[in-house]
Parts: sequence; structure tokens; C-alpha cells
Amino acid sequence: MFNRRSFLNTLLASSLLARRDPVQADPAPSAPASALPPWPDENDPAFWDRVRGQFYIAPGEAYFNTATLGATPRPVLERVIEDMRTVETTITRWDYTPKTEDLISGYMPALSVREKLGKLVNAEPRDLALTQNSTMGMNFVAQGLSLKAGDEVILTDHEHPGGICGWQERAKRDGIVVKQVHIPTPANDPEQLVELFAAAMTPRTRVLAFPHILFSSGVVMPAKQLTQLAHEHGCLCVIDGAQAVGQVKVDLQALGCDAYFSSPHKWLLAPPGNGMLYIHHDQQTRFWTTLCSQEWDDETAGMYRFMQYGTGNRSLLVGLEAALDFHFRLGTERVLERIHSLADRLRTGLQQIPGARISSPVHPKLAGAVVVHRIEGVPAARLEQELWMQKKIRVRSQGDQLGVRQSCQIYNSEAEIDATLEIVRKLAASG
Ligand SMILES: Cc1ncc(COP(=O)(O)O)c(C=O)c1O
Repeated sequence: MFNRRSFLNTLLASSLLARRDPVQADPAPSAPASALPPWPDENDPAFWDRVRGQFYIAPGEAYFNTATLGATPRPVLERVIEDMRTVETTITRWDYTPKTEDLISGYMPALSVREKLGKLVNAEPRDLALTQNSTMGMNFVAQGLSLKAGDEVILTDHEHPGGICGWQERAKRDGIVVKQVHIPTPANDPEQLVELFAAAMTPRTRVLAFPHILFSSGVVMPAKQLTQLAHEHGCLCVIDGAQAVGQVKVDLQALGCDAYFSSPHKWLLAPPGNGMLYIHHDQQTRFWTTLCSQEWDDETAGMYRFMQYGTGNRSLLVGLEAALDFHFRLGTERVLERIHSLADRLRTGLQQIPGARISSPVHPKLAGAVVVHRIEGVPAARLEQELWMQKKIRVRSQGDQLGVRQSCQIYNSEAEIDATLEIVRKLAASG
């Protein structure tokens, strides 16, 4: 039997073990663990440049692909590595008594991490499971719900495979009906989005499942109104928050949705392999666990039932906790204000370039920190390539209709945005 209580001690110990070694100015990406930079001074006019120094991103390179994978901050990565080292150096002492730490995840409730995550998304720890990514969360929800042939699930036509495939499998296996609402590009009318969903609903609709933020065109969906719509019709509301946690304020109590999953390795900058699944306690018993081990049937322990994935790397959970610490130390408000203001700068600049088109929203209620843009007559792949070749700016193409997706994060700067605009301006002029 694995000892759950000792996991709290493990996390505490690993936090204490985190390196606090002295500074090295402008360290190279391959700098050793001991070269952690100092925490930026609040009053430093170059505060955000100092924050940039908290990452291993190579100097002179600009990373704008957080929507795929966030860059892990140096102190976070070092805590992961340190914890893995602790596991290796104490492996012989693990005797399963309360005195020793569990060296693996996959069997333990990791309550302290769930509590900390709960503070960020305003949820009770018993309503949160730590999974490995959004795909896992989506599958727990889609596979675990009892549905019969003819029952409808409504999604958008901009789903990431990790937001829809579990529902499609249910359609093939059980005959449920998956309907996809067409989302316009660009979307700039919040009311219209709600109306599109309302028009798609029928008496057979059981679930409204939509992304909080579309991965393709960056639309921040009117999640609260859509949740209300679902509940007015007696339906469950399931939200794919893969792109949202860390990009916008996520308050699950205020949203009122029934289920919500996310990938903290994107905008929260946790190491890859960290996921979150929320199911409100009133709805949990409606979901079967579909990945079962020891505690699969313990309904008294809340979402712990959904954390029975077998031996896993506990150091990744240490990394998630460290990413939360990093985020809270900067402050949610300050982070969001920063990344949205960078995106605003990009949007404003693009609007002034003839030939440049913004496929993501500009409406303040629908716009986030992702800007998707294109140039008339220029293939998206070419724009992506030019940005990299000319200034080492990494964005990701979303195809010629949408353009390139540019995710603004705390490791980006005004100078990088302006360099992007300069390249777009030249390309738009020359074609
Ligand atoms: C909206 C959305 N849902 C789900 C996923 C899948 O995330 P993961 O690969 O972390 O499971 C992504 C990944 O980009 C996404 O953007």
C-alpha cells in the first residue's frame, strides 16, 4: 500500500531542496543547474527582461508557440531535476512506511498540489484530478459518461483532436450524435456565438462541449453564457480549457460548468506531462472512471478516483507545483496584463499594415493573448518561415485561411512584436 500522507512531505522536501544558488549574468542555455538567475526586482524598469532571463530560451530567439507548449522556467525545471535526483539517491530507503516518501506518482492523491491548483482556478481540491494532459481529461469525460444512441453532444468545428476524439469514438461505438457548430472567422460578436449554439440545441442534446479558447483562431469563447445556456436546457457543460489556464482568468466557481480540463504545460508553463481535470462534486458520480487501479471505486475521495494511472514520474508533479509558485510569485493579474498588452500591441500594429489580416478576434471580450494573422497572397508557411529566417521568431502556421498563430507570453517583448511587424510590413509590400 502506498503511503499518501508522506507525499506532502515529499513535496515540502523537494521545495526545500530547490536550488537558490548565486547568479550568473546572461547564462547560456546549457548553463548548469547552479546558475539560476536572481528573482527580478519589482522596481527594475527592465523587469520583464529579467523575467525573460528566468527561461532557457536562447538569447536572440523569440518563442511565440506557447499554444503548443509553454517554455518551462529555469527554477521550475531545476526543481524537477533535483527531485528526480532525490528519487535516485534515496531509492534504496523506500520501505513503504510512513517515514519514507513515495517515489512515484499514479497512486497518491497529491493533495497539496491540487490545493494550490485549486487556488488558481477557484475550485475545491476534491473536484480536481491531476492527469497528464487535456486529452486524458477529455477522454475521462467523454468515455465515462453514460449516454445512449441518439443522445447529442454539441461541439464547435474548431476542435483540437484532444477535445473531440473521445466523443467521436462514442458516436462510432454507441451511436451518440456529435454536432459541430460553425464558428465564423474572424469571430467578433459574442452574442452571435451564443445564438449559434442555442440554434443547434434540440431536446436530444445532453452535453455542450466547447473549448474555452479555440486553438486555431484564438477566440476566447463566451464560456459563462454558454454554460448558462447548457443548464437552461438541462444539459451538462464541459469545457476544454487546454488554452485557457494561464492565458485568461479561470474561475470555475463563477463559470459554473460541470467539467473542465486543461494542460498546464501550455500557458501555466509547467513541464510537459501535466494535466488537470475538474468535475463538480454534484456531477462526479455520473462519470465512470475508465482508467482504473487501486482506488478506482472510492467515490468518497472526490476526483482522486481519476488519478489511478499507475506508476508515474512524481517529479512532474513537483514541477507543476513549482510552476504554480512561479506564476503566483509574478502574480496572475500582472501576468495577464502583460501578455494581453503584448497581444494588443501586435493587433494594433497589424491593423495599420495594408494587406495584413487578423483572423483571431479584435473584440475585447473575445480576444486573448493569441493573435492569428496572415498576409493577402502570402502562404502561411512562407510567413512562418520568413519570421524564423529573418529574426528567429517562432510562430506556428494554422493554414493559409487563418495564417500564423502568435502566442504572446511573459518571455516575449515589445521588441519581438515590433520585429514581427517589420517583417510583415516588408512582406505585405513586396508580396
Ligand atoms: C483546445 C485544445 N484542446 C486539447 C488539446 C490537447 O492538449 P494535450 O496535447 O496537452 O492533451 C490542445 C492542444 O493544443 C488544445 O489546444
